[in-house]
Amino acid sequence: MSKFITFEGCEGSGKSTQVALFKEYLEKKGAKYIFLREPGGTDISEKIRNVILDVSNSEMTDETEALLYASARAQLISQKILPSLKNGTLVFCDRYIDSSFAYQSYARGLGLEFVKKINSYAIENCMPDYTVFLNISPTEAFKRKGGVDKDDRLELSGADFHEKVYSGYLALAKENPDRFIMIDCSGSKWQTHEKIVKELEKRGVL
Ligand code: TYD
Repeated sequence: MSKFITFEGCEGSGKSTQVALFKEYLEKKGAKYIFLREPGGTDISEKIRNVILDVSNSEMTDETEALLYASARAQLISQKILPSLKNGTLVFCDRYIDSSFAYQSYARGLGLEFVKKINSYAIENCMPDYTVFLNISPTEAFKRKGGVDKDDRLELSGADFHEKVYSGYLALAKENPDRFIMIDCSGSKWQTHEKIVKELEKRGVL
């Protein structure tokens, strides 16, 4: 089996920029890889994504939201992640189950057990080998960025919600110190990129 690496971070952490830089790096290197995103990555999962993030779906319950993320994940795992790992392709994914723990378990308050249980049906024991975490608090990130994007339902949640997401991630990192790679994002985007590459090289992923 090949390696499975996920990228996680709070809103405003610069994850999209780092994912874009990392994809360019992989292209140049000529690695055999696939880069996916959650929620999404298959036609069905992208449709589920649209339902989850649609700002007009304001009646959505927290439980429905968690189940939809798990459904999108189930499809992605069967259709893309497992077949790719089996044929020796390196799999990267922008967000994965830790997002459900940070956002749904911790920030929405659904608890770890509920989210673990529904995801146990979805993930077929498919956990990442490593999780790259862009370690910057949303408060710091928003200061640096000079504002907050409010383009989707999750981004509309307030500052308290995003601080809870961040504490959730820190708790997850503490529980999984061998899997989480904590990346200090206080430098330039290139310094952060180099840190990510170095940490993955050190672990024999690249
Ligand atoms: P996206 O625009 O991809 O956000 P980002 O650029 O921050 O990754 O939207 C995904 C949103 O879904 C984001 O707010 C995090 C949230 N999310 C969850 O709440 N639970 C999950 O399991 C996943 C995968 C994402």
